[in-house]
Amino acid sequence: MKIMAVIGSPRRGGNTDFLVDRVARGAASKTAVELDTLFVTEHSIGYCTGCLTCTFPPPGTKACPLPDDMPGILERMVACDAFIFGTPNHMRTVSSPLLTFFSRLLPLMEFVPDTDAEGRITGGGFTSRLSGRRAAIVISQGDPVFSSALVHEVLERNLIDLGIRRVGDVISRGNMGPQDVRAKSDDLEKAFQLGMNLVTMTGMR
Ligand SMILES: Cc1cc2nc3c(=O)[nH]c(=O)nc-3n(C[C@H](O)[C@H](O)[C@H](O)COP(=O)(O)O)c2cc1C
Repeated sequence: MKIMAVIGSPRRGGNTDFLVDRVARGAASKTAVELDTLFVTEHSIGYCTGCLTCTFPPPGTKACPLPDDMPGILERMVACDAFIFGTPNHMRTVSSPLLTFFSRLLPLMEFVPDTDAEGRITGGGFTSRLSGRRAAIVISQGDPVFSSALVHEVLERNLIDLGIRRVGDVISRGNMGPQDVRAKSDDLEKAFQLGMNLVTMTGMR
């Protein structure tokens, strides 16, 4: 099974990285896993300029004009069966590199509009080249008490738009130091179980 771990933390070896690794180990305890790890901060990923060349018109037929690493990354994603998306809570949302990364996934999606009798767009939804994949969500934060509701919402809503089904999540709190999560045995166990579930649920496609 091919899993891509997308890590939005700039800290290699930090809390998010460690938790994501636990999820991957849980998956590997159930089946043979080919892991493709992507530290978003270690790639050239430009800001979306909003030109929508990748989307209109006609939807999805034109490539993004930015000259960076994204075309290869998109093909790596399409080749995967499942994902682990990990982020620290930064300013109460996902890390800015991860948000930049998500905004560059538009070429994988196609907006299918609903129109009224006069042809005006009244709503719509997305189709996606990642449709039917499964994903585990990993969040680490410094605050020991308040949950990362917005962080979770941003990840979850984007996964829905991408057609990726969320298997579950680990939200680890109170990790201000880069190694803090290593002492949180409950969170580490939850991450391992999540990896096992990711394999089980991906097999039930
Ligand atoms: C720029 C920045 C903003 C942060 N904002 C928050 C926040 O809003 N809420 C919170 O609980 N922790 C916040 N933190 C703490 C991180 O979420 C926490 O240290 C996390 O465990 C880091 O994960 P990492 O080791 O994988 O990078 C922030 C840290 C940084 C560097």
